[in-house]
Amino acid sequence: MRCDVFSIFPDYLSPLNLSLMGKAQAEGLVDLSVHDLRDFTTDRHRSVDDTPYGGGAGMVMAAEPWARALESVIPAGSEVQRPTLIVPSPAGEVFTQARAEELATEDHLVFACGRYEGIDERVLEWAAGHFVVRPMSLGDYVLNGGEVAVLAMVEAIVRLIPGVVGNPLSLVEESHQDGLLEYPVYTKPSRWREADVPEVLLSGNHAKIARFRRDEQLRRTAARRPDLIARLDPAQLDRNDLEILHIEGFAVQNGAVRSVASDPGEN
Ligand code: ADE
Repeated sequence: MRCDVFSIFPDYLSPLNLSLMGKAQAEGLVDLSVHDLRDFTTDRHRSVDDTPYGGGAGMVMAAEPWARALESVIPAGSEVQRPTLIVPSPAGEVFTQARAEELATEDHLVFACGRYEGIDERVLEWAAGHFVVRPMSLGDYVLNGGEVAVLAMVEAIVRLIPGVVGNPLSLVEESHQDGLLEYPVYTKPSRWREADVPEVLLSGNHAKIARFRRDEQLRRTAARRPDLIARLDPAQLDRNDLEILHIEGFAVQNGAVRSVASDPGEN
């Protein structure tokens, strides 16, 4: 996969050269280039921003440096296979594991890190002629710029490229892979400061261990992320799952898993 990242703070992206990401680059699994947006300016001050039309606080990133920057990575023949341009923004669609899986199959991703109040909207409209443009948000909070979001997104995407994570099985049993949060994990010693590892995990009974872990996933998800429980497909739940969910205050109604816990605001 080829990845181009544009930023006015290219050093912000240097952690992408460490650890598994660095190794993925060294092994040729990902070809990452980080570019300084200011290299695409034409004025003496290398300026990239200006005041917003219509007034308001802050500055807006100007269109021309962005267009010149993005043009530099449009491959010949891109009319056939347009690269995906990801624009981190709190106003984007939410980046999830499903989006990471989808993007991990792409040949060429381009990331445009905005700063200040964002990028002149006309850049995104123009870019749609050359890229599949996807404004994407890490979540419902505001960062100072797109760089931290790109670090997170690139890491989530690249680790799904075959060969990047040494043991591919570790990708199977992790949070969000099956719509549930991951089960809790333990290591030696089996007794630590009066706290014992759940006994079933020492039993060697693989079926019981699998059931225990599934139950823990359901309990944890019900407690921490009820929104994920509501998205489960009831056809994928066995009797034991339904029992656990019932204890946690959920039941299948009209083909969907719903919370049946009494509303604390009602009393
Ligand atoms: N830039 C600023 N806030 C952001 C967010 N929540 N997600 C992605 N990019 C951002």
